[in-house]
Order: sequence, then structure tokens, then C-alpha cells
Amino acid sequence: MNDAVLKPSELPYDVDAYRADFPILSETVHGKPLVYLDNGASAQKPKAVIDAMRGAFEHCYANVHRGAYDFSERTTAAYEGARETVRAFLNAKSEREIVFAKNTTEAINLVAHSFGRGLLKAGDAVVISEMEHHSNIVPWQMLRDEKGIELRFAPISDEGELLMDKFAELLDEKVKLVAITHVSNVLGTITPAEKIVDMAHAVGAKVLFDGSQSVMHMPIDVQALDCDFYVFTGHKIYGPTGIGVLYGKEAVLDAMPPFLGGGDMISSVTLQKSTWAELPAKFEAGTPPIVEAIGLGAAIDYISGIGLERIAAHERDLLSYAMQRLAAVDNLRVIGTAPNKTAVISFAMGEAHPHDIATIIDQQGVAVRAGHHCAEPLMHRMGVVGTARASMGLYNTRAEIDRLGEALDKVNAIFG
Ligand code: ALA
Repeated sequence: MNDAVLKPSELPYDVDAYRADFPILSETVHGKPLVYLDNGASAQKPKAVIDAMRGAFEHCYANVHRGAYDFSERTTAAYEGARETVRAFLNAKSEREIVFAKNTTEAINLVAHSFGRGLLKAGDAVVISEMEHHSNIVPWQMLRDEKGIELRFAPISDEGELLMDKFAELLDEKVKLVAITHVSNVLGTITPAEKIVDMAHAVGAKVLFDGSQSVMHMPIDVQALDCDFYVFTGHKIYGPTGIGVLYGKEAVLDAMPPFLGGGDMISSVTLQKSTWAELPAKFEAGTPPIVEAIGLGAAIDYISGIGLERIAAHERDLLSYAMQRLAAVDNLRVIGTAPNKTAVISFAMGEAHPHDIATIIDQQGVAVRAGHHCAEPLMHRMGVVGTARASMGLYNTRAEIDRLGEALDKVNAIFG
């Protein structure tokens, strides 16, 4: 069989070719080739994204939804084309269900303000988990303090898995929303999304998944999942910063009041009152992140071209290779050992502070994140002040994992 008749999913995974798509990967740090293992914080950008954004700025740029002239119409078509790309990527039913926001944090705040402040009342409950990012904790605490909402916390095991029997105990008719991460940014744990939806819907609660750490690692089908909200951010999926996505079921979004008021989100305005635009414009006040949306569309096209299943298989291989390599590093303890996880490894090393680990291995050209990862309650739960975290992406290689292992051996040489 030659390549011409192979489906994309059957082609060999040519990681070197993909690496060549990312100009930044040929940079050096402290005189050593960059090993970028902080993809969970922000992923690098392929030429396709850089070119799409530069192309918009250089060749066709204007404000959207406003001008009756060629550039505005073409820019609007490109912006709305990106929305269609996101819709297809998530398999949402309609483009009306895809709202552009600044990032995941803003998308969750939109739901907290609009669904939370607008539709919930004192005594209603929201369930989150112990392994949420601050962006999926703080907005709900603010809502609790303002409106008298009860906030409940689903506990996790020492391995970092949701304890589903305890989660079940939290669910009753007072619960109006379950807001849980699909993949933990610290532990990599993949939460049992289908079960969560079934259990939450059984008590009449809506479900929001924080997909910040999932959409780049696995295919997502919001219709199959039947969740009510799904949120993610552009810059972790090889796209730009300044653009995020809120998916919401149309009927749910329709019932929600606007979040921000201003231009573009109205149907009509008098000095006395205003009426709202149709979805999704109702939730997109002001000039949106136009070129960022175009860049996000290009990023989604890029990873879809490789294939999420193939990226997932590559990253599974990297994860198992990295777990073996790191097992050979003295004093290293992995935090988060759920069997179903993405290629994210948080770890502690004896007396070495996570910041020391990151600083020492940076000298070897290896970039990892260190600290509490915007998940302080999870750090308390796992009994650590922080961790060092290697988070892998589609362009990482086994050779880079070897470089990580060698760099960590140097940490031991210093801290013993
Ligand atoms: N949420 C990002 C991370 O986990 C910044 O690193």
C-alpha cells in the first residue's frame, strides 16, 4: 500500500516533520537545544498559525460585523469561519453554540455571571472537585459569597482520581451545576466525563467541563458527551493567547442573560432600554479578538490534519517512556498516578524545592513549570507545597525525555 491510499490516521507519526512546523523548536537555551515541556502552561505555535495571523494583518483586516465593504466582509467571513471550525472540532450542533471569549477563565466567569447570577438562587448548589484550577474555583466562591449558593467539593484519591461514590453522595436536587475539569492540569487525570454527565443530569444539574487540558490531547464530541458547557483556551492548543471558547447547548445559552453589555450584543438600544442580539452575538460584546480567532481556527485545522487519535497515541508512548525514565531518577516521586491520564507528570524530588528543580534543569535547556500550578487546594490535598511538572505535546520526543532525565540526575548531584 502506498501513502496515497492510506487514511491520515494510518500514516506513520512523523514527529520530526511536525517539529519542523514549529520554528521556535530550533532555538537554544543556555547554549543547549530547547526541550520544551511546559505545554500545559502554553503550547508553541506552528507556522500555519503564525502565517494565518500574519496573513490577516498583512492582507485583509478590518472590524467584523460592521462595515459594508469588502475588507470588513472578508474579515467577518474569516472570523465566522473560525467559529465553524470550532463547531466542527467539538461536533456542536450549531455555530450559535460557540461563543468566543478571552480564555478559559473568562468563559467560566461568563457562565458564573450569566448562568450563576442570572438563574441560580440562594440555596442552590454547585459541585466542583478538589483538583480544579483556580479559574474553576474562584468564580464559584465569588458567586457563593454574593448569592448564598452552596459550594460542594468532590474529593479525589491519593492517586488523583475522582472518588465517584463520594461524588454521588454530593448530588441531590439542590445541585444546579457540576463544574469539573476534564483533565487535571497538574495530575493529567482524565475524569470520567460520560459518567459525570449521566449522574449530574439524573438530579437535574447542568454540567460544565473545563477542557483547557483536554482538547489538544483527545477528540471531543460535545453531542456524544451531552454536556451543557465545555470551555477551552486557544494558546494551549497551539493557537494564540487572547482567544478562548465557551460551548453551550443552545437552549441553555438562550435562557441565560448577557454577561457584558456593549456593541454587537444588542438587537436595539434606546436611552431607556436595550434588547439582545441572537446567539452567539449576545455573549460577544465589543470588538472581538478577530485575528486571534483566525489563529485558533488555523491551530485546530493543523492538529486536525495530524489527527487527535494519532497525537494521543504518540503522547501515550511518551508518557510510558517518561514514566520508565523518571523511575530511574533517585528521590523522584510522581504526584498523580491515575491509570487514565494524559502525558503530564508532576513530581517532587526529596529536599529540592520545585523552583530549584526547574531552575537547575533550565540550565540544561529543559523548560518545565514549577509551583502550585494555580491549583493550591490540590497541593494541600496531595500534601506538597508545589511540584515540578513536565507536560508533553505533539512535538516532544523520547530523546527529549532522555534530556529531562539527565537534567534531573544533575538535580540529584546537587541535592544528593
Ligand atoms: N493553567 C496553566 C497551567 O496549568 C497556566 O500551567
